[in-house]
Amino acid sequence: MLKIIIVAGARPNFMKIAPIVAAMKRRSADFQSITLHTGQHYDAAMSDAFFRDLEMSEPDIYLGVGSASHAAQTAAIMQAFEPVVLKEKPDWVVVVGDVNSTLACALVCVKLGVRVAHVEAGLRSRDRSMPEEINRLLTDQIADLLFTPSRDADQNLLAEGIPQERIRFVGNIMIDSLIGNLERAKQSTARADHDLQDKDYAVLTLHRPSNVDDEDAFARVLDALEEIARRLPIVFPAHPRTVKMIAELGLAARFENNRELRLISPLGYFDFLQLLSGARLVLTDSGGIQEESSVLGIPCITLRENTERPITVEMGTNTIAGTDPAKIVAAAFRALENPPTKDSSRVPPLWDGHTADRILDALLERDGKG
Ligand code: UD1
Repeated sequence: MLKIIIVAGARPNFMKIAPIVAAMKRRSADFQSITLHTGQHYDAAMSDAFFRDLEMSEPDIYLGVGSASHAAQTAAIMQAFEPVVLKEKPDWVVVVGDVNSTLACALVCVKLGVRVAHVEAGLRSRDRSMPEEINRLLTDQIADLLFTPSRDADQNLLAEGIPQERIRFVGNIMIDSLIGNLERAKQSTARADHDLQDKDYAVLTLHRPSNVDDEDAFARVLDALEEIARRLPIVFPAHPRTVKMIAELGLAARFENNRELRLISPLGYFDFLQLLSGARLVLTDSGGIQEESSVLGIPCITLRENTERPITVEMGTNTIAGTDPAKIVAAAFRALENPPTKDSSRVPPLWDGHTADRILDALLERDGKG
């Protein structure tokens, strides 16, 4: 029996831990799981909604750290997590993704000599101004076992001097959640609620500090969005950070005066999946949405200069448009000329809904129990 603490902290972590938690429950003869939520995200819409939709029970341990500067937040997570690890003495700690909680908890483990596994290892944007890139680089250097979603991630890790025996290509854990919940997401009323049934529409998400904390960058993206909104309505579930910045940067009027650029509250997992799966186009600066839209066959325009998920460009539906309005508009109009296609041969290898079991098999094998 392996005792595992599995860590989540922020919204994009919840759909990554859910399939692993469920698989450990199914395989309870081999796994005892403790779910830990750091509290990095805490609003009901950013956290509770995902536990509910993904049918996860309340976390066993909630650290309640909340928002703060990067240093203060990372330190608060470490201070709160260390006594938990000392008390529980897990065989493994599993961290996912690239948020501050991921790095903070990995760092606690390595200092205590407790083995840590990183799910979604090896992704690199090569843009060190992104906080996530620093979290990825450091977590991968110190974790004992690195679970990669795609072969390019293996290559990145090898190039950084990480030995092959620490790397396991297991596929994309988010896609386990996507495949497992698509049918249930059909019951959501999100499309009807926003009057988008049987209509062409685009979905937008935007929350990266480089896009929303900088007035010029945000205004440039907004220029492009206004142009695209003349062709089809854009529905925009906005992250709390973005909502705050719209007010601070004096951009609210540009949304209030535009009926086709519809700012709405953050959505739960099912509601977002329903909107995404019916969209004609996705515009985003999120990493996970590049992957989800690729699997769903929905054209995705990425509002960043780079991606840590190049496979979504090579095999999926993703176009990297950056933040130049002319490039964004041209990419969007090109995508609108080509209807979405569901070509399963374009789904990357092992993005098949079985990644959680491959992760658990590898953990058992590492312990000589597989
Ligand atoms: C974090 C992750 C980012 C991820 C994103 C997804 C890091 C470094 N960043 O960014 O990789 O893509 O989550 O959402 O870990 N806030 C609330 N309610 C909440 C959470 C946050 O109002 O439940 C507000 C606070 O004002 C906070 C701000 O959003 O200061 C930013 O939150 P934070 O967790 O620091 O970073 P995110 O931008 O959410």
